[in-house]
Amino acid sequence: MTTRALDPVARAAVEAVLARRTSGAVVEADNLALLAALPDGSVELAYADPPFATGTSRRLQTIRLGAGERERRGFRGGRERYEVTSDLAYEDGLPLADHLAALRERVREIHRVLAPDGSLYLHVDWRTVHHARLMLDEVFGPERFLNEIVWAYDYGGRSPDRWPRKHDTILWYAKGDAWTFERDAIDRVPYMAPGLVGPDKASRGKVPTDVWWMTIVPPGSKERTGYPTQKPVRLLERIIAASSRPGELVLDPYGGSGTTGVAAARLGRRWLLADRNPEAVGIARRRLAADVAATT
Ligand SMILES: C[S@@+](CC[C@H](N)C(=O)[O-])C[C@H]1O[C@@H](n2cnc3c(N)ncnc32)[C@H](O)[C@@H]1O
Repeated sequence: MTTRALDPVARAAVEAVLARRTSGAVVEADNLALLAALPDGSVELAYADPPFATGTSRRLQTIRLGAGERERRGFRGGRERYEVTSDLAYEDGLPLADHLAALRERVREIHRVLAPDGSLYLHVDWRTVHHARLMLDEVFGPERFLNEIVWAYDYGGRSPDRWPRKHDTILWYAKGDAWTFERDAIDRVPYMAPGLVGPDKASRGKVPTDVWWMTIVPPGSKERTGYPTQKPVRLLERIIAASSRPGELVLDPYGGSGTTGVAAARLGRRWLLADRNPEAVGIARRRLAADVAATT
């Protein structure tokens, strides 16, 4: 498959970020086109949250109850009226082999654009984690593996016949034999057994382990954009605070609703996001503009 190069407007936006004339850009493009426009070693941190190979499109409808023409079964079998306030989707229908081939091509490019002390966080779930780990071993080298982070949440339906699948996996690999880990910049979490560590340590909390308990973006919260599979800003803030420094460049080739850009901007990093879905790009740009306006 051929991927078109970035259009001149997107290219100029990317060059302005690389030259530090602006702090960030969201480009509407296949991420291979963005990656091809980046010089070797130009990115300090990459976070990639590709589709999860579900074999279908990922769709999210947001509804408002108590108004509108539609009806659904409500509490105790009664009928309730509702209206659809947003209906957003992105494609995730590739057969597994094609999905993995496309991902491998992008992981190779991410490796090329990372700085010598840069790193990649690749966000996957049970469908592809085993393939992704081998792929990253192949491209980065098994000795560059740093962590397999488990993001555990607790929301949604329960399986009647197996343990509910309530975690994603984030694989962290370094490009070289040195990498950024800003331990003191990481948000701290409560000890599981505070009585065992004494009051001082207990009140400070601890640096999280590789298992992160963190809620999904709650329905109805201010943070929620309506974009399917939106990740929490808090998750990205933890990654960016730990693995980059102020002023450095953070890349998200599967930008979606712009979560990585919001977290990077709040932490004073530069950011480059790509998404091929125009609806995602619109949401990310509006969200970033509103967030920057709210904090200046
Ligand atoms: C899992 S979502 C990302 C969600 C994002 N982390 C957030 O918090 O909103 C994956 C995104 O990748 C985009 N995508 C998939 N393949 C792509 C490609 N080859 N180039 C650019 N974007 C792509 C989809 O349109 C979708 O928005």
